[in-house]
Amino acid sequence: MAHAAGLVLRPAQPNDIEAIAVLWYAGWRDGHIGHVPAALHRHRRLADFRDRVPPRLHTTTVGECDARLVGFVTVRRDEVEQVYVARPARGIGVADALLAAAEQAVAERFDTAWLAVAVGNTRARRFYARSGWRDVAALDYPAEAGTTPVTVACRRCEKRVR
Ligand SMILES: CC(C)(COP(=O)(O)OP(=O)(O)OC[C@H]1O[C@@H](n2cnc3c(N)ncnc32)[C@H](O)[C@@H]1OP(=O)(O)O)[C@@H](O)C(=O)NCCC(=O)NCCS
Repeated sequence: MAHAAGLVLRPAQPNDIEAIAVLWYAGWRDGHIGHVPAALHRHRRLADFRDRVPPRLHTTTVGECDARLVGFVTVRRDEVEQVYVARPARGIGVADALLAAAEQAVAERFDTAWLAVAVGNTRARRFYARSGWRDVAALDYPAEAGTTPVTVACRRCEKRVR
């Protein structure tokens, strides 16, 4: 694995909201189009991500290279909820550093972390497996979608973090 030179991780701040939303929007499309019900697409416009970032900001860690935001991770209790890396920063270790930070955050309060990954998101699944996460079960994940969640066929993965 190449090293992400100059990568700095830090807690997200309000002035990161737009950059996180833009990164999340593009990354969501990369990882999910074709692997989730079409009904979810109209809930995943850029405007939706602008709404979804602020409630998570306090549990979001961002990665920066040369003062540019290149990825982020969010944690919700024992769940690593979101892991996203900008296209040019994939395959160089940014994702590894973000995931390790999320695992440490979960480890402050829990023994085991879990996450859901869409069945068809093969790159993410490969990444989690390489990072020591066990694929433990099928999971119908209720993805946020207005008033009624949309069910996404996922795999549940777990890792002991302490
Ligand atoms: C998932 C993500 C964070 C992983 O970060 P990354 O930097 O791309 O991860 P890496 O390149 O280190 O690892 C990906 C692995 O998948 C492999 N891979 C690449 N493209 C692949 C593909 N189309 N199918 C299967 N495996 C693939 C890589 O070779 C690598 O495996 P290896 O280490 O055994 O060679 C990043 O790809 C991303 O942001 N994707 C879009 C958003 C997303 O899907 N997030 C996860 C939501 S659960």
